[in-house]
Amino acid sequence: MNSKKTLAILGSGSGSNADALCAYANNDECSFTPALIITTSAEAGMSSVAAKHNVPLAVIPRGADIEAELSRLLSEFSIDALALAGFMRLLPHTTIAQLNGNVFNVHPALLPSFGGKGMYGLHVHTAVLESGVPVTGATIHLVSDQYDEGAVLARSEVEIPAGIDAVRLQQIVKRLEHDLYPKTVSVYLRNR
Ligand code: GRF
Repeated sequence: MNSKKTLAILGSGSGSNADALCAYANNDECSFTPALIITTSAEAGMSSVAAKHNVPLAVIPRGADIEAELSRLLSEFSIDALALAGFMRLLPHTTIAQLNGNVFNVHPALLPSFGGKGMYGLHVHTAVLESGVPVTGATIHLVSDQYDEGAVLARSEVEIPAGIDAVRLQQIVKRLEHDLYPKTVSVYLRNR
């Protein structure tokens, strides 16, 4: 079997997907090992996820040169792949190139619908509910230098219960994300 790939996780949200990725890595069949958690906000849930799973944490401070900081960190920790988990900005092209394109994102809707700039958090679920579509879900995709536009690797769907609000829908979709994201990343990296 190939040796495990080193995965960095980058985000500034509550950290629930980072937690799911780290937890899944305890399975023998998982092809990655979380080697670094990176956040742009020390207050973000990512800090407690790093402590819980005993993974090194790097905080990129506001105003720092994110491109240079990411380049340095990915080299220093010999990172093979990067999973975005609640990262709201476009990733520099150089970061994607440094990792040979092994960069993933999870989106809380069925791309290509309900993606693009401004489509994050509850905005996504509100737009889904207002559109009247009967089904939503989660998408795992490769990251390009445009918002939500890289190749789709996997999707998971759920019927939208009648009368649900955006907060509750977000909780339902997050459960799909937590199941789908680690498995998809593991399968993708297994033979790389
Ligand atoms: C998730 O909903 C994910 O789809 C989106 O950002 C959110 C991050 O949430 N890209 P969490 O910090 O993983 O809870």
